[in-house]
Amino acid sequence: MEASMLEEVVQNPNPYPIVAEQAYDDIWKLCEQARDLAWDPSKIDFSDLKKADLPDEVRRAGAEWWSLRAWMEHGATPYGAERFRDAVFGHQPFEVKQHVVNFIQEELRHHEASFRIAQALHAYQPTPQSDYFLKIIPKFHDEKDEKAMSFFAGLAVNTLFEQLSGELLQARYENARFESIREACRLILRDEARHVQFGRIVMRRFFSEISALDKELLGKKFAKKLRGSLLNGVYAVVNLPSEERKRSARARALAAEYGLGATHPDAEVDIIAKALAKIRADVAPWEVPIPPIPEVEGSTSGPSSKAA
Ligand SMILES: [Fe+2]
Ligand SMILES: [Fe+2]
Repeated sequence: MEASMLEEVVQNPNPYPIVAEQAYDDIWKLCEQARDLAWDPSKIDFSDLKKADLPDEVRRAGAEWWSLRAWMEHGATPYGAERFRDAVFGHQPFEVKQHVVNFIQEELRHHEASFRIAQALHAYQPTPQSDYFLKIIPKFHDEKDEKAMSFFAGLAVNTLFEQLSGELLQARYENARFESIREACRLILRDEARHVQFGRIVMRRFFSEISALDKELLGKKFAKKLRGSLLNGVYAVVNLPSEERKRSARARALAAEYGLGATHPDAEVDIIAKALAKIRADVAPWEVPIPPIPEVEGSTSGPSSKAA
């Protein structure tokens, strides 16, 4: 063995003991459901979108929207990969590692379903066409933020976002008038329900052990991610700079008008506000302080709920 290879081996943390004994029955149940409910985005028939009589502008708007969703879903996979590494070297039991692997696989298939919709509408955009989005996308996942928290606190932040995006996706499912988009949304929602359920298990099992300092960090990171990146065009367009906000909101509204599984920008803020209220209620028993989100919940900084 060459010296350089040896160095690499030594630098890796020790994975042993590799735990096979089951510790969390409820997490294992989610793993079993994930196995039973696997699905294949390439098997969805997207011909209804290809054949649809839609104006070119609408096709482009729909493709832009579903490309954005595809990037967002993809953003969850590097986050998952880091969590998997943490689970391995933190000697977590098998079911925790299995759940994280399922999470990565599921987010990747949400990405696939989304880019397939964009392709069927017009064309998937592999790179954002707006400079602004190019700057925002790399901030979807900031590993520094995750590493600042304990393993389960970091997982908890993500599952709070699963709840939010689940509420938005539900509205987008209801908006969809094409069978292929409805089917994709329905299957994605079914996966997301498990991710939300995992968050509830994390809260129930581990929140009492998380320090007050970690809880404060958790609330801060949640607010930072929401305000700094997800309200910049992903969940809603409220925090985009004015020109990009107008352009993005118009495209989003057009996609919603034609039932392409989008939400009108004005409706998004209300959905997020309601979901936030639910999340605040969910974390209240564990005293996790979530800072105010004025652009969604309204407050001293003035209402900015009208996106377009
Ligand atoms: Fe997803
Ligand atoms: Fe998810």
